[in-house]
Amino acid sequence: MIPFYIETYGCQMNVSDSEVVARLLSDNGYRPCEHLEDARIIFVNTCSVRENAEKRVMGRLDLFARMKKKDPALKVGVLGCMATRLKEELLAHPAVDWVVGPDSYRLLPGLLGASQAAPLQVTLSKTETYADIKPYRGLTPGITSFVTIMRGCNNMCAYCIVPYVRGRERSRDPFSIEEEVRDLFARGFREVTLLGQNVNSYRWKPEDGAAPVTFARLLDRVARISPSLRVRYTTSHPKDMQDDVLHAMAAHPNICKHIHLPVQSGSNNMLRKMNRGYTREEYLERIASIRRILPGCGISTDLIAGFCSETPEDHAQTLSLMEAVRFDQAFMFHYSQRPNTLAARHYKDDIPDDVKIRRLNEIIALQNRLSLESNRANVGKVFEVLVEGLSKRSGEDFFGRTETNKVCVFPCGKSDVGDYVRIKVRACSAATLKGEIINENQ
Ligand code: SAH
Ligand code: SF4
Ligand code: F3S
Repeated sequence: MIPFYIETYGCQMNVSDSEVVARLLSDNGYRPCEHLEDARIIFVNTCSVRENAEKRVMGRLDLFARMKKKDPALKVGVLGCMATRLKEELLAHPAVDWVVGPDSYRLLPGLLGASQAAPLQVTLSKTETYADIKPYRGLTPGITSFVTIMRGCNNMCAYCIVPYVRGRERSRDPFSIEEEVRDLFARGFREVTLLGQNVNSYRWKPEDGAAPVTFARLLDRVARISPSLRVRYTTSHPKDMQDDVLHAMAAHPNICKHIHLPVQSGSNNMLRKMNRGYTREEYLERIASIRRILPGCGISTDLIAGFCSETPEDHAQTLSLMEAVRFDQAFMFHYSQRPNTLAARHYKDDIPDDVKIRRLNEIIALQNRLSLESNRANVGKVFEVLVEGLSKRSGEDFFGRTETNKVCVFPCGKSDVGDYVRIKVRACSAATLKGEIINENQ
């Protein structure tokens, strides 16, 4: 059996897609291997969301080209979002044998075997969800897993390349989702994260004319699979997030109380230009609902610094919104113009790099303070943590997460990976809680 290796970049969707690819290939005479050096075929599953993401992959392709000079039988395939965006340009790279986009993975086994098959397959589909394919989990063993519930995106956020490289939004059959989750639980997994670019618009219309399955209903169904299974999800969109999802979370103790709600900017001018579909006030109203229905819920966000024509006042609005919400965590980026997006076609990328970076650094510094304050408020408290594995820094400590999505490190004691333990938090940094296991009755 021919060994292959998949290197994955970008978001969790790509992690999940690499598992689909690994299944398709391992069912058709290929064998996944753990080390790049052992592979006869290398795949790179790529991301186009920011220029830096693409640059990293181009650097890897240059390395693979040098490897192929020494070993001409080695093959390289580019998968994922860059495949859709760059097409022939990637195929022209000396390293590349195949370019296969996110909706064409079923063609892979046929392509690898047939020398006459067209090596460029990037057509996007309106229906493909890979619902019937059981992802190969050996690539990321453990007790937590991603489960894709929908693909594509119908929003047109002005800065964003995702709708162009992933295609139209489509929801996956809820029965296949439940089946996959049940199977994971039976195999020892204890946490699933349901994935979609905008999970709040998940919608499945049953053929018998029954009421459509909304995201709130899907969450409810997945949460009922077992009380010992933690359920997380990402990403919510502030314009579509309704209280029904919050009520479903409140009804099930095993749905983790954490919401990732990307705001992008605190300025109404920027939000309008970004085409996000909500105002600062509407966003704050959503936060108020979360705090009302789910007290103590962890809230994280994404922020972009230096979008087109962003003024110092716009930037100050972002900082003040961060203070108002007091996010527990954030992913922070400076704006990176992506070709052919609405912003690239209609607005000037007119904020100089040094200004973008200065604003980003201010955002990061503020978030570090907020994260530290949020963690400090947890010192002395007790949380239930799912033991996920050994801490990277120390072989004697485990790590896991609180349901609010905070990473927690603690001495192993008698517990095992996959156990739920009660942790008393003793200390913290901005990124981690440190604690120890306590007994129920302490
Ligand atoms: N679907 C999710 C996120 C998708 S991409 C959502 O709607 O929020 C993840 C994050 O990357 C985005 O939330 C945004 O903050 C960031 N991002 C997307 N395009 C970007 C760009 N052109 N420049 C900088 N950051 C970008
Ligand atoms: Fe991009 Fe907006 Fe879709 Fe998120 S919702 S993937 S930011 S277009
Ligand atoms: Fe990147 Fe594609 Fe995900 S562009 S963020 S890998 S959907």
